[in-house]
Amino acid sequence: MPNNLLVEGPEEGVLVLTLNRPDALNALNTEMLGNLSTALDNAEADPKVRSVVIAGSRKAFAAGADINEMAARNLVGIFEDPRIAHWERIGRFTKPIIAAVNGFALGGGCELAMHADILIAGENARFGQPEINLGIMPGAGGTQRLVRKVGESLAMQMALTGESIDAKRALQAGLVSEVCQPELTVEKAIGIARTVARKAPIAVRLTKESVRKANDMNLAEGLRFERHAFTVLAGTADRQEGLDAFREKRKPQFKGQ
Ligand code: CAA
Repeated sequence: MPNNLLVEGPEEGVLVLTLNRPDALNALNTEMLGNLSTALDNAEADPKVRSVVIAGSRKAFAAGADINEMAARNLVGIFEDPRIAHWERIGRFTKPIIAAVNGFALGGGCELAMHADILIAGENARFGQPEINLGIMPGAGGTQRLVRKVGESLAMQMALTGESIDAKRALQAGLVSEVCQPELTVEKAIGIARTVARKAPIAVRLTKESVRKANDMNLAEGLRFERHAFTVLAGTADRQEGLDAFREKRKPQFKGQ
């Protein structure tokens, strides 16, 4: 049986994780989510990894939770679902994640894409929360993150009708930051990941954390968090290096110190 998660790198600081269940349109079963979670655990601990790209295939980023697996679980099985811990692990990853989305990103696939910090979509991408068609509802952030990304009206429409939106609409709505030809999506995501990987790691980590706080905090609290994070960076060697390099007209050499 082929490995359902391909792990490449890190190369130039970028780890590429490719979902690989082509026969099931990359439906997220427990094993694949577990592999993703383990890969992120390893990436978190590896200083050579500065950013991560998550990709799928040309036809599907991921077509949702594995419906066959889900059908075999009763209430207690869903309540004790080991995938909850995997989702939580993805959500607290501290390094930037860039999602390269081609084709279907539905249900858990859309939710996985929304765990990323930057979303790049191919022109053939389709984002949706079709769980309502199965008599269920999103359970991995599809009602919460989607509202924060695209606003309540569109999120409500997607979650209540189950209808998906195309890449152009996703761009207009702010769900993705760029749309490109499907054959370029992964390359584009890796390019962005490499750019991020060259920055000072502690500044990157605090920037990610601070931007994310904007969804959780009111403005005054968020500004206070940002100010504290900004102040912490004043104690890093990389800050000194960045400022020195600018003044000496050379490229900075950041060390994560
Ligand atoms: N789970 C398990 N298998 C899936 C799957 C899924 N989510 N999505 C697709 N597949 C399988 C199909 O069963 C099919 O397998 P077989 O060849 O063995 O029959 C194979 O992938 C190819 O799929 P289709 O033949 O259906 O391909 P298509 O191009 O005609 O249609 C599609 C593509 C519109 C995405 C359609 O497959 C589909 O509607 N999939 C289900 C999408 C969905 O409802 N996702 C939400 C799941 S629930 C969820 O995600 C909840 C949560 O996170 C908490």
